[in-house]
Amino acid sequence: MHRAIKEYVRNQIANNGRTSQPFRDRYQHTLRVYAWAERLQALEGGDLRIIQIAALFHDAGWDDHIPHQQVSAALAKDYLAKNGYADSDIEKIVQAVANHNQRSSEASLPKECYILMDADILDELGAITVLWDGMATALGSEPSYMKAYQRLCHYHEQNKGREHLLQTESGKRLYRERIAFLDYFIKHLEYELGLVHDLPVPLVFTPQNRH
Ligand SMILES: [Fe+2]
Ligand SMILES: [Fe+2]
Repeated sequence: MHRAIKEYVRNQIANNGRTSQPFRDRYQHTLRVYAWAERLQALEGGDLRIIQIAALFHDAGWDDHIPHQQVSAALAKDYLAKNGYADSDIEKIVQAVANHNQRSSEASLPKECYILMDADILDELGAITVLWDGMATALGSEPSYMKAYQRLCHYHEQNKGREHLLQTESGKRLYRERIAFLDYFIKHLEYELGLVHDLPVPLVFTPQNRH
């Protein structure tokens, strides 16, 4: 769905000059945020089409001096106006893109905005976190499993304090579950690295044995 927009966004991201670690492709991030946004919409409601299109545009733009959410919102507005979208739809999409980094819940925004914010935070938290920390470690100096483990623990501790940033109930629950999954993963890793003597009990993770 939204093939033309995906193509447009893919090109924008490829050419906008925003740098990241080589394995963190921002277009792939965009597609994962799109998938998270769909999952959240199924749980929380909201206008699916607005949420999907806002997710696709949310990181499309970049400028060294202007916040990227503003650049992305301007790109979305321009593209959607030129391609015949209704003004009322454009307004909702642009609002969600422009606010996707606004982490305070002071202003009251439409549900579509909160779903996009939560989808953006949920990406790269969970099993992908382990890949990220492993790959980032491998690109640094003297990589080792121990260094990857330490990096994983370091960012995991930081992420544990970020649940308040999530805006929807489903987003908070999914966030907690992924933190619990990583807690569990780290326990196994500690055992396999020989840092602890006892296997985690129970051995298999289920949402019931999360803390
Ligand atoms: Fe962003
Ligand atoms: Fe993003």
